[in-house]
Amino acid sequence: MGVLNRYEAGVCYYPEHWKETLWEDDLRRMLANGIKTVRVAEFAWSIFERTEGAYDFSFFARFLDLCARVGMKVILGTPSATPPAWLTEKYPETRNADASGHLYAHGGRRHYNYNSPIYRQKTGQLVQKMAEAYGHHPAVVGWQIDNELNCETADFLSEADTLAFRSFLKKNYGTLDALNEAWGTVFWSQTYTAWEKIFVPRQNAVSAHNPSLMLDYVRFVSESAISFCAMQAQIIRACAAPGQFITTNGMFGHLDNVRMSRDVLDVYMYDSYPDFWYGVDQTWKKEELHDRNASLALTRVRSICRHFGIMEQQSGGNGWYNRMEAPMPRPGQLELWAMQSVAHGADYISFFRWRTSPVGTEIYWHGILDYDNHDNRRLREVRKFTEHLEKIQEICGADTDARFAVLTNPDNLFDAEVDHWHARVENASQQGIFEAAQALHVTYDLLDIRDDTSVETLCAYPLVIVPHFVITTHEMAECLKAYAQQGGTVVIGCRTGYKDRHGTCPMRPMPGDFREMTGTAVDEYSFASPAEKEATGKWGDEEIPAACFMESLKAEEGTEILARYTTGYLKGEPLLTLRQNGKGKVLHFGSTFSKSAAMCLLRRAGLAEPYAGDVQVPESMEAVGRVKNGKRYLFILNYLPESQQFEAKRPVYDLLGQETLEGTVTVPGYGVCVLRI
Ligand code: GAL
Repeated sequence: MGVLNRYEAGVCYYPEHWKETLWEDDLRRMLANGIKTVRVAEFAWSIFERTEGAYDFSFFARFLDLCARVGMKVILGTPSATPPAWLTEKYPETRNADASGHLYAHGGRRHYNYNSPIYRQKTGQLVQKMAEAYGHHPAVVGWQIDNELNCETADFLSEADTLAFRSFLKKNYGTLDALNEAWGTVFWSQTYTAWEKIFVPRQNAVSAHNPSLMLDYVRFVSESAISFCAMQAQIIRACAAPGQFITTNGMFGHLDNVRMSRDVLDVYMYDSYPDFWYGVDQTWKKEELHDRNASLALTRVRSICRHFGIMEQQSGGNGWYNRMEAPMPRPGQLELWAMQSVAHGADYISFFRWRTSPVGTEIYWHGILDYDNHDNRRLREVRKFTEHLEKIQEICGADTDARFAVLTNPDNLFDAEVDHWHARVENASQQGIFEAAQALHVTYDLLDIRDDTSVETLCAYPLVIVPHFVITTHEMAECLKAYAQQGGTVVIGCRTGYKDRHGTCPMRPMPGDFREMTGTAVDEYSFASPAEKEATGKWGDEEIPAACFMESLKAEEGTEILARYTTGYLKGEPLLTLRQNGKGKVLHFGSTFSKSAAMCLLRRAGLAEPYAGDVQVPESMEAVGRVKNGKRYLFILNYLPESQQFEAKRPVYDLLGQETLEGTVTVPGYGVCVLRI
């Protein structure tokens, strides 16, 4: 993970939740089961500063000394996610506000705002003192800043946020005239005549706020979170021993995680709860792939940091006292989910949490051990996992054997958080491409591109899909064009290029900046009507669905029409085109990438089943490829309770079983097989 060059396991531990007499036994049991690192203190502000200014670092000093004595490494959390009651009461302006402007009450967590000067000051002072007290302690290997930035809520609507938002806008636009022009405030008489008239989108507007204001507000929240994180990181870096890494955990909205990771952190960590996809007593849609869907989130994490850590890996059944989320992992599932993280690029796996809390909101958020503290099945599974990690150490640091990339971009991610039309097509395609790649066992990357992304970055992949870059720029278009000219294949989807960076729609044909390379112009477009059957097209002999959205494409001279609509009101019109660009080509697909459309595309690009010469894996198991020093590895994961089989077509080496396999191989229910092929 940039700081560890071996696979290692850890656990989240809360010394403040237990009698001190339990600590040593806990630490020794962890070590005996292969857990070598603990993350602590991320919610312990009132232990460090029980009343204002009364700093006391003795409690965690005793814990750290014990860790050093028994040989346990420690990641220290900064506790800014849970300000103590004295702070929120004395300085109400440090609190975040809800949409109607009411300040959040004390009692939960993350009720502060990033822009309150006094909150920054109080946090900075505590972090400084923590870094002085523990920054050279031999047990400390790293720091986690805050906990899950933008979790609980990603909206920041306090007075301090409004003031900071105005400064952010002044810096970006210079003049009100420029802002009015960019935001199109002429619409509905929204023209601003003074900066003081601009607010964060607090009062729920009768209908909706100006979309350009919303887009800039999301960028502003992201900047606020990053600068709050950077403020803490700077203090720690100036004070702590070199070599201690800085991270944070989680992946939440309104946050440019790529930039935060690149500019502020040494390594990025994620919290993986694969069975958090449906609430037991809620009406959430049960996704078809259930826990296997976590692989999509992990692919996104890899786009933020290629070798990341898992700070919280699900180890028990989940819920709060007021929410039910997930049953206990069945035998095998705990290890399966941990291996899913490893397969997708995690080099550090820390379970949440050592023992289930007997007090507080999370009494049902089960950890490895239950309240009664006896050695249980889940602990045995952790032990098995840590033993297995040792057997696959040679894979640590391997690259993903990615056969194509799906491009993402912060402006487009943010716009999709604001614009429901954008979100609908984007989510449909992200899920469709993921399901297609899963079915065809193709490992792929999500790749973040910006105006300064080099062509070489793209050249690592033979094909890139740019599902729905609603916002395009000239720079991105030039980069993609150059990539195609050097031999790459670019595939773009519907809704490309109809907005600018402000989220407004310039008068020009779609796909905007990408038009020159596609050699197309969108003629008609519409969402699929729920009253109609979904449209389809024909690509050669194959039927290809045009799900969710339909565009008819006018092909310019030199652009070939590959598929036309065969049903729906666009029947007979072009649905898919191809234009040669130098040595490569650019395809324009006027719809979203449903699972079958993406499968069709991947098959025709010759990318399906890349390991077919080595192993034949059924669709119902995941296969994740990794490469290191010219060697290829394959993780085969069975998410079903019953055993499944794959065919080894030639001898392959099973790293966990430490034997060579050939012919029919059985993977037990919830089992994992790690092959060198
Ligand atoms: C995570 C969080 C943990 C714990 C867990 C269970 O999101 O980081 O502190 O709260 O969820 O709710």
